[in-house]
Amino acid sequence: MTGVSIIQGDITELEVDAIVNAANSSLLGGSGVDGAIHRAAGRGLVAQCRTLGGCETGEAKITGGYRLPARSVIHTVGPVWHGGDQGEPELLASCYRSSLTLAEEHNLKTIAFPAISCGVYGYPIPQAAKIAVDTIRQHIEHGSQLDEIILVAYNDETANAYRQAVG
Ligand code: APR
Repeated sequence: MTGVSIIQGDITELEVDAIVNAANSSLLGGSGVDGAIHRAAGRGLVAQCRTLGGCETGEAKITGGYRLPARSVIHTVGPVWHGGDQGEPELLASCYRSSLTLAEEHNLKTIAFPAISCGVYGYPIPQAAKIAVDTIRQHIEHGSQLDEIILVAYNDETANAYRQAVG
């Protein structure tokens, strides 16, 4: 049975099979968690990302973890929040689905997600947390080989929103 847990901390420190990066469509790094992951991984990560040809919003691509304790990085591009009536909920759910599908395809056992789109991209945290939890639950209900899915909060507000969403 796949476990779902909530932790508060720095995703770059987690020794898991994959950490998910809230990237932009270039996949060439940025600020926020994207910047932290690239800094911790070292230059090998961006070198591999250059070969991937970018990533569409809602899609996900996988690379090695390089100098990170995580074995791999799953890069996904969240939607920018524009009020919620431009497909943002469906695109955010797609980020979680695409990342989980990639993890299954690569026989990964542990995966950690940051709060995708909840920083620079401005997605309201309570709504994003509910989408994350609901999408993860749907994935597990359809059968998963994953042992653990970790929701990583970087602040109290996000941790509380995840706990609220898990109910
Ligand atoms: N560990 C875990 N979570 C983190 C970390 C970290 N080290 N650093 C930031 N976060 C959290 C933020 O607090 C926020 O809750 O990750 C969440 C996502 O915020 P952003 O990193 O700003 O990502 P996002 O809102 O999806 O915007 C993506 O920002 O960094 C650029 O290149 C990136 O253009 C892209 C955009």
